[in-house]
Amino acid sequence: MFRFTRFQLAVHAAALAPLVALIWDIALGNLSVNPIQDITFRTGKAAMVLLVAALAVTPLNTVFGFRQGLRVRRALGLYAFFYAAIHLFVYVVVDYGLDFYLIWLELAEKRYVLVGFAAFLVLLLLALTSTRGWQRRLGKTWKKLHRWIYVAAVLVMLHYAWVQKSDIRQPLAFSALLILLLILRIPRIRRTITRLRSRRASKTEDKGPAFSKI
Ligand code: HEM
Repeated sequence: MFRFTRFQLAVHAAALAPLVALIWDIALGNLSVNPIQDITFRTGKAAMVLLVAALAVTPLNTVFGFRQGLRVRRALGLYAFFYAAIHLFVYVVVDYGLDFYLIWLELAEKRYVLVGFAAFLVLLLLALTSTRGWQRRLGKTWKKLHRWIYVAAVLVMLHYAWVQKSDIRQPLAFSALLILLLILRIPRIRRTITRLRSRRASKTEDKGPAFSKI
């Protein structure tokens, strides 16, 4: 039997909320005049947000010591892949009716489609090898392989920026967040933050007994 903490349950509920809302809106006919584009946008956005959330887990632990997040990192990455798969399905099957010649032309013509596909292939590879079995089988290579999540994220940011032809404020905001998360991953910076945090923690501990003597 699975045992989830409240935090894990909240994360799973939040990750599934866009899907529930989408199904709800489809069922009630609440989509816009261009329903396919609506679904494409919403699944793409959910995939991107969850990907960034998965990438934020380690920096949140480094800066704030938020260890709970580590338990949902894999789930967040898989949810991101799940929404990206629906996003691709809608594009290939619903929008283009499996017309691979037309899709091929789009791939050659539109750079955002090309980088979107590349990002998806990376996410697919990471999702397939995300199991404990593959982690064991690949050993040290597994960690190196899973660093490709950053490559996927950069491709997704390009995809997002190129999809938005004029107003690129949101893609820029997400890209800035991604750059910050990448900076916090640099081993030197990570080590400095960890050192500062443990120094602060030991100072707080020093104050502890003095209080308890009162
Ligand atoms: C698998 C290949 C992909 C294809 C063919 C594809 C295709 C598309 C298309 C056609 C659009 C809408 C463009 C428009 O109507 O103007 C779009 C938007 C978007 N896609 Fe993708 N995409 C792919 C992969 C991805 C992946 C892997 C992600 C994220 C993980 C993603 C995130 C987004 C986002 C965030 C938007 C914009 C949503 C918005 O403006 O609210 N896409 N994509």
